[in-house]
Amino acid sequence: MTISTTAAIGGGVIGGAWAARFVLNGLDCRIFDPHPDAERIVGEVMANAERAFAMLTDASKPKPGRLTFVSSVEEAVEGTDLIQESVPERLELKQKVHMQIDAAAPEDALIGSSTSGLLPTDIQCKMMNPERMFVAHPYNPVYLLPLVEIVGGARTSAETIGRAHAAYARIGMKPVTIRKEIDAFVGDRLLEAVWREAIWLIKDDVCTVEELDDIMTHSFGLRWAQMGLFQTYRIAGGEAGMRHFIHQFGPTMSLPWTKLMDVPELNDALIEKIADQSDEQAGDLGIRDLERIRDDNLVGFLHVLRDARNGRGWSAGKALKGYEDRLKRQAANDA
Ligand SMILES: NC(=O)c1ccc[n+]([C@@H]2O[C@H](COP(=O)([O-])OP(=O)(O)OC[C@H]3O[C@@H](n4cnc5c(N)ncnc54)[C@H](O)[C@@H]3O)[C@@H](O)[C@H]2O)c1
Repeated sequence: MTISTTAAIGGGVIGGAWAARFVLNGLDCRIFDPHPDAERIVGEVMANAERAFAMLTDASKPKPGRLTFVSSVEEAVEGTDLIQESVPERLELKQKVHMQIDAAAPEDALIGSSTSGLLPTDIQCKMMNPERMFVAHPYNPVYLLPLVEIVGGARTSAETIGRAHAAYARIGMKPVTIRKEIDAFVGDRLLEAVWREAIWLIKDDVCTVEELDDIMTHSFGLRWAQMGLFQTYRIAGGEAGMRHFIHQFGPTMSLPWTKLMDVPELNDALIEKIADQSDEQAGDLGIRDLERIRDDNLVGFLHVLRDARNGRGWSAGKALKGYEDRLKRQAANDA
């Protein structure tokens, strides 16, 4: 089934960026968000997305779809092929919104939730037709980063997972289906561990927010962006590779290096400490300035990765290359 119309339920940081990805890929999108400033907020995200998308590729882009603001979930989902729910991360709210979607959406619509870690089995449990519901967990900014984690619940059909894969790939994404349904899936499991440890390091005055970011951005952050964790460590093992790396550094895992599952108490004092240091780090750069700097850098990285290995592409650059090749084929067919 070809996807041509979409719905975004929730138009915050993530929902607005999903709407941008849909529209910039030629799909019409109806968006519902009860927030009084929703149109302005989505408009600002859309402006940044248009700017980034213009830089991303020279391939001829589809004519943008139409973005329409509507006043209910029902109006948004009626007659749409792909529905993306991005309301706040509260299970009861997600269940309620998915029941509304379920009642008004076409029978064969795909219904994805952007949840960062709630289980699809729990979100779909009150739906009449849960087989079409799944998690499609993106990364911010959704209009630039290709990855989407696809997670099925106990009642999601295999056909839905297959169709979801094809639908997100078609809009330039790299869908990865998670093999087991677990809380927080894969990406947020990793991020949560790093985030928890980082908060300990600030709380214990080992470093400041800015120093921690320097340590990350000037070293392993650069490596992770192009080779991930395992391939990076394979190289770190030298000629003997991964086996040697694990034998050499494996035992350190049982040293008391990290606080691991100890959760720091996020009291007011600690929140203020982190937020003050973060304000100082940002200086006079506002959120939209930081977003544009981030987007420029991401586009630059993606171009380097697309052109790597004499144009064969590497890691996320392969996703961009595949997307551009498809746009070029489409333009040639249309000509
Ligand atoms: N922020 C991130 O980096 C990130 C990344 C991946 C996934 N997510 C997930 O995306 C979802 C949304 O997160 P966000 O960061 O965009 O939050 P957000 O607070 O920026 O946006 C949520 C939006 O939902 C709207 N909303 C509230 N109730 C609604 C309803 N009944 N119907 C329609 N809209 C409603 C709010 O007005 C708000 O604009 C969450 O499930 C979150 O876990 C967030």
